[in-house]
Amino acid sequence: MNTYNLHLINKAKERTADFQRLKAKGLLCLDGDFFPSVHYPPITMYPPISEEGLFKSYTLPKDGLFDVYVHIPFCIRYCTFCHYPVKTGDLHEEKEKYLQALKKEMDIFMRRFGLKTIKARSILIGGGTPTYLTPAQLESFLKFFRERVDISKCTQFSYDVDPPTLIGDEGNRRLKIMRDSGVNRLTIGVQSLDDGILKMMNRPHDAKDAIRAVNDSREHGFKLNIEFIFGYPGQSYEDWIKVMNKAISLQTEEIQLYRLKVIPYGDHQGFVQKKFFDNPDEFLEPETAITMKELAILILEENGYKENLRRVFTKKREDYSHYADNQCCKLYDEVGFGLTAFSSLRDRFGLNTQDFQEYYSMIDQEKLPLNRGLVRNEDDQLRWCIILPLKNREVLKKFFKMQTGVSLDQVFRKKIERLKENGLLHEDDKMLSLTKLGAFFADEVCQQFHRPDYMPYPQQAYAQGELNPYFDCNP
Ligand SMILES: C[S@@+](CC[C@H](N)C(=O)[O-])C[C@H]1O[C@@H](n2cnc3c(N)ncnc32)[C@H](O)[C@@H]1O
Ligand code: SF4
Repeated sequence: MNTYNLHLINKAKERTADFQRLKAKGLLCLDGDFFPSVHYPPITMYPPISEEGLFKSYTLPKDGLFDVYVHIPFCIRYCTFCHYPVKTGDLHEEKEKYLQALKKEMDIFMRRFGLKTIKARSILIGGGTPTYLTPAQLESFLKFFRERVDISKCTQFSYDVDPPTLIGDEGNRRLKIMRDSGVNRLTIGVQSLDDGILKMMNRPHDAKDAIRAVNDSREHGFKLNIEFIFGYPGQSYEDWIKVMNKAISLQTEEIQLYRLKVIPYGDHQGFVQKKFFDNPDEFLEPETAITMKELAILILEENGYKENLRRVFTKKREDYSHYADNQCCKLYDEVGFGLTAFSSLRDRFGLNTQDFQEYYSMIDQEKLPLNRGLVRNEDDQLRWCIILPLKNREVLKKFFKMQTGVSLDQVFRKKIERLKENGLLHEDDKMLSLTKLGAFFADEVCQQFHRPDYMPYPQQAYAQGELNPYFDCNP
């Protein structure tokens, strides 16, 4: 190993001292597992709800704008790490059926609220692999979507894609169709640029395909985000350094990092969990994953990429997902269509079914395919207004007061002071934000503000130190 890489690894390993210290204080789970803080309450913890229950007394946003999400749950094949409910393989007829149902779901929603069109603030089409449609299907989807969604005020139109669907003749046709329909940003699931790791992940592409997909997409004028997973069994520090250096050489606007989640937090379980139960010794220690994360941060920073929205590194401040920022930091209304899609609507959250048959059957009955959700009470709302913006950027005090009617200075004082004393939070007159150390452990710092029954793990899963999240849980 060259001396520079050795120096980088040793520097990155210093982070494990923080990991051990914060684990002993109760901030981090004792077994080293983690739970991504994406929504509050966590997406797995919603009770059943009816359409009427969810929308009772709901009023449309004053400016009439929504961030719009569409989910398309089809993929070429199952990646070993994936815990999402997707169908794999060609399935031409099923995709046709799904697209018809999706169109109808949008119509049911529009009818319910008397809308002629849905006015979009931003759009994200995700999956699955939403480009794993034939070019003709993609074109027809985008046509009926655009007939229903007004994009005149839309600041960003994104697609989450995988590399093989973007290359070759078909890939180029898809890129052109998306561009012609107003799509201007792609998030490409590259995952790794090491062929051995990609093979172990059962990804349907190698590094060369991924690089080609990035280059072809750029030629079509898209802004690009590329996503990577670290902490995969078999991955070494040196492999990961090489992958990060190659990622930087691609010069995309955004680079996004995910630590491998072995134990799922949703209803579906990917192959990786079974592999873990069968051969736990093949998996990396949490300390190794922590070091890999720090290694990536050091390399990205040296090359001018700074953390922008959480986990996303960019050279320019203006490059980020508007969909994520609007929903998680600005707390605007977001509506989701399709299997597993969610809608986050100011003081309530609704989740669509994860079951294909239930999805089709509810739409056949002219119902929105919702089956779980919650209208948040005052306590939930207070926590939501801290957790989402803090995780992703910062909590602006003026904004918090406007949203909740309560001053941030009057809530969670003990907790906030303790987190500040431990170097995890920074506070001034205008805002509360994560320090660099706090940002590294952002999920766990944000979980400090959960109500006990919405904690991801039981109290005994954490050390009984001063940062055990169950202490001082009341606002
Ligand atoms: C919503 S997924 C779908 C992306 C797209 N279908 C693809 O894989 O090309 C978005 C990202 O989450 C990350 N991800 C998925 N499963 C994960 C897991 N078990 N652990 C860590 N990251 C994961 C991957 O980087 C993936 O690209
Ligand atoms: S990770 Fe992405 S491409 Fe792989 S199976 Fe899951 S949704 Fe599909």
